Amino acid sequence: MSETVSGNRHLLSIRELEGPDIISLLDSARSFAEVSTRPVKKVPALRGRTIVNLFLEPSTRTRMSFELAAKRLSADVINFATSSSSLSKGESLKDTAKTIVAMGVDAVVMRHQSAGAAQMLTGWIDCSVVNAGDGMHEHPTQALLDLFTMREELGRLEGLKVAIVGDIDHSRVARSNIIALNRVGAHVLLVAPRSLLPEGIEEMGAETTGSIDEALEWCDVLYLLRIQMERVEESRFPSLREYTLQYGLTQTRWSRLKRKPLVMHPGPMNRGVEIASEVADEVESVITGQVAAGVAVRMAVLYDLLGGSHG
Ligand code: CP
Repeated sequence: MSETVSGNRHLLSIRELEGPDIISLLDSARSFAEVSTRPVKKVPALRGRTIVNLFLEPSTRTRMSFELAAKRLSADVINFATSSSSLSKGESLKDTAKTIVAMGVDAVVMRHQSAGAAQMLTGWIDCSVVNAGDGMHEHPTQALLDLFTMREELGRLEGLKVAIVGDIDHSRVARSNIIALNRVGAHVLLVAPRSLLPEGIEEMGAETTGSIDEALEWCDVLYLLRIQMERVEESRFPSLREYTLQYGLTQTRWSRLKRKPLVMHPGPMNRGVEIASEVADEVESVITGQVAAGVAVRMAVLYDLLGGSHG
């Protein structure tokens, strides 16, 4: 977590967390996961606190799980809808944020299409900020929930071999995961056409290959990414069909594997593109497990940011 001079604590980038900080949050998330199994899924940890979800880009999983996480900690939650707000009348993000915080808010969880937007917000408002995805930059809580899932499923993180396949260039999920996995001693292999690998990505601490078959032989975890059609130009690869043939987890590839890796996906999935629909159905429980982990991990993050200073 980072802290500004005002004393507010933030989670803007996974870089703010060293390996032991990550493990400590995952341990905390494990105890919060138990809350979601109770008949009354609520603890009073953040009673009296107010959290705003400021999502300026579409989201299903992240927005809903931050809302549930805050509610399960007994915080008050406001969901900000862009279309019905004064942003649609031309009010700036800065004025919008200042207006929200003037009402007495303790934390803002923001998704934005621009890299660095959450960092910028910390300079404008006097409360905690959580980055829920900023452009192609980072998605720190996604990396935490992914590591939580790997650890729960496979029992360890250190030495784990994780292949991340797909549109690395446009993926904030890939960036945050590469950093987080390195910090806990896992190995990362990136699998993509050269045109979807950013220049110098190896310097972040990852090997690269163009062969998903090589990766499948090597990895303990196969982490598939969505081709982000809203950000990618078709010219980066010949066609979606070509992409699937070369980089997709097809039924043929899956059925010929003797040792099957854990298959993960941050969602939303493009069935029939990066993963065959039949394979997606077979590995569904892990992918929905990631979604469930999202609630527990976000409870741990919100509690870490706001719980300590709760009177
Ligand atoms: N994984 C993820 O960020 O999903 P959403 O876009 O649905 O929040």
